[in-house]
Amino acid sequence: MKNRRIGAVEVSAIGLGGMPMSIEGRPEDEDRSIRTIHAALDAGVTLIDTADAYHQYADEVGHNESLIARALGSYGGDTSDVLVATKGGMFRPGDGTWLTDGRPEHIRAACEASLKRLGVDSIGLYQHHRPDPSVPYADSIGAVRDLLDEGKIQMAGISNANPDQIRQAQEILGGRLVSVQNQFSPAFRSSEPELLLCDELGIAFLPWSPLGGIAQASELGSRFQPFADVAAARGVSPQQICLAWHLAQSPVVIPIPGASRPESILDSVAATALTLDDDELATLTFG
Ligand SMILES: NC(=O)c1ccc[n+]([C@@H]2O[C@H](COP(=O)([O-])OP(=O)(O)OC[C@H]3O[C@@H](n4cnc5c(N)ncnc54)[C@H](OP(=O)(O)O)[C@@H]3O)[C@@H](O)[C@H]2O)c1
Repeated sequence: MKNRRIGAVEVSAIGLGGMPMSIEGRPEDEDRSIRTIHAALDAGVTLIDTADAYHQYADEVGHNESLIARALGSYGGDTSDVLVATKGGMFRPGDGTWLTDGRPEHIRAACEASLKRLGVDSIGLYQHHRPDPSVPYADSIGAVRDLLDEGKIQMAGISNANPDQIRQAQEILGGRLVSVQNQFSPAFRSSEPELLLCDELGIAFLPWSPLGGIAQASELGSRFQPFADVAAARGVSPQQICLAWHLAQSPVVIPIPGASRPESILDSVAATALTLDDDELATLTFG
């Protein structure tokens, strides 16, 4: 497994996104989710992305964090090098919507609850989930800075941020911003300015929905013919080609494909062994 870096921490170049195991459409059989997380760990994945808002019903906040904690607890091997990256600043009332709450008091309470669910004294990477239009961004990020100063979190990241917000967060955190998590995929390339800024600043960039999202991931090859063509020539899946394309964008990129089946994450992880050549990259980028 190839590694990349978030702050001073080495993590697998491909992480596991936990969302499909906890929101609408999740497996009814929780054992399938546990097997998925264990398969990722067996394959050398040392980054798992989650959030307190990865749940379906209102009364199960932190469903995904609890699931991950259980899977790590029941894993037979050493998990001390696994970085669990969670998020706070959003909530789900249970009607299918996603809402923001960037008030400092909410972020503090959310972090305290995540600490308990994850069963740790300090969270490895805590990411502010999404800017709240009704709260000054500086106030939300100030709350994350306080958590960092108090040692409740080891590292701080942000998500769904534009270049100005990345620079602002970096300043408020006193140069300690380690990661930005934005949507980026063949279907959604408009986070390129943020990706380029992270490359320039040496901040990890974690593309979310890197395969196009839960509903579209299986159709990647049929929606984007160049990915199907390169995949056919290489004898691998279009999803693997897509993840190799992500990795080729910059050494700061660490894709976090979601999975709810062991086969999915095992196929995705194999992308770390692929190096695309310039012709392939040009085909994938420009069609
Ligand atoms: N910060 C944010 O606002 C935000 C928003 C959305 C997502 N995220 C994070 O980003 C992660 C990834 O995004 P996502 O889960 O929305 O979308 P995604 O990674 O683009 O797609 C996930 C789906 O892809 C399928 N899949 C994975 N690897 C595959 C492979 N090699 N071949 C075929 N299918 C494959 C999985 O199917 P199976 O379920 O059948 O295994 C899964 O349901 C999330 O899990 C979450 O951690 C963050």
